[in-house]
Amino acid sequence: MSDTFEHEFGGQHTDIKLEIVEKYLKRYSAALHTWCDQVWYIDAFAGTGRRTVRVKAREGDLFEEPVPEQVEHRRGSAKIAIDIEPPFDRLVFMDVKPKHVAALEALKAEHPSRDIDVLEGDANKLIKSEIAWEGWRKTRAVMFLDPYGMEVEWDTLRRIAETKAIDVWYLFPLSGLYRQAARDLAKIDGAKERAITRMLGTDEWKQELYSDAPRPAANLLFDMEPVDVRQRNADVAGLEQYVQKRLKTIFAEVLDPFPLPSIERPQKFSLFCAISNPSKRAISLAQSFGGSIVKSMPASHHRTGR
Ligand SMILES: C[S@@+](CC[C@H](N)C(=O)[O-])C[C@H]1O[C@@H](n2cnc3c(N)ncnc32)[C@H](O)[C@@H]1O
Repeated sequence: MSDTFEHEFGGQHTDIKLEIVEKYLKRYSAALHTWCDQVWYIDAFAGTGRRTVRVKAREGDLFEEPVPEQVEHRRGSAKIAIDIEPPFDRLVFMDVKPKHVAALEALKAEHPSRDIDVLEGDANKLIKSEIAWEGWRKTRAVMFLDPYGMEVEWDTLRRIAETKAIDVWYLFPLSGLYRQAARDLAKIDGAKERAITRMLGTDEWKQELYSDAPRPAANLLFDMEPVDVRQRNADVAGLEQYVQKRLKTIFAEVLDPFPLPSIERPQKFSLFCAISNPSKRAISLAQSFGGSIVKSMPASHHRTGR
């Protein structure tokens, strides 16, 4: 494997994430190709098409030989999408990193018969310029938003929703949000505040996620007046519910997210599926895909008590 494709990221949850998205893509492509002229896949944070996974060394014991660390190369989202049957009619891969773009070009060259576009640049800008066209009446697409962190801007999501033709899988960086949204509102500096607002599309989160803490008594000894403190009232589950509520303001439907990692805590991501097409058929199709994917996953990956 040439160095071009080397891309090490994520953890065990990455396998689950890609498994869920692959299952959806298979169902989506099969169903949509029965009536739609053009079915596309857009990967806005495409990576290299492959991922490098280090499998930890295992010490030997009485029964088993020790196993040294192994390096495996598995398929990333772009390659998974290329392999989907029936095939997508067009695939668009975007990435900001020139080295990753070179790897995506090499991946494209391995599939000369496929209609693949590789675009270099910031996903927010590229998505807005690429999806602004009149052809969405006869074309449907699935887009995968798989950033490292808080890169996806609300305005980008809004534009995607406005096409009424694109289903989005969005790996929402829940840990990024709970790290930036400190317990004490006063401790959030201007840059963090703007980053949260850019991601959630409103500054109302300051009212919705925070409330006045009980006022402490005045400190008579030092003649000090108590200071009002606003504290975050939403825990991790509350933040996730708030994000889902926000997404529902622009998308026709937002399925309950998959928590990732699914077993270990803290939860770091929420994998959302948002549907922009408001037709009953599109919504019930997405709901049934989502339901069957949940059923197909091991019970340990199911969400408990929400
Ligand atoms: C988590 S990786 C994506 C992995 C990919 N989905 C896979 O399965 O192989 C995130 C990718 O986003 C790219 N990236 C980071 N910021 C970006 C931006 N603003 N616009 C486009 N790509 C970006 C990174 O270079 C990296 O390749």
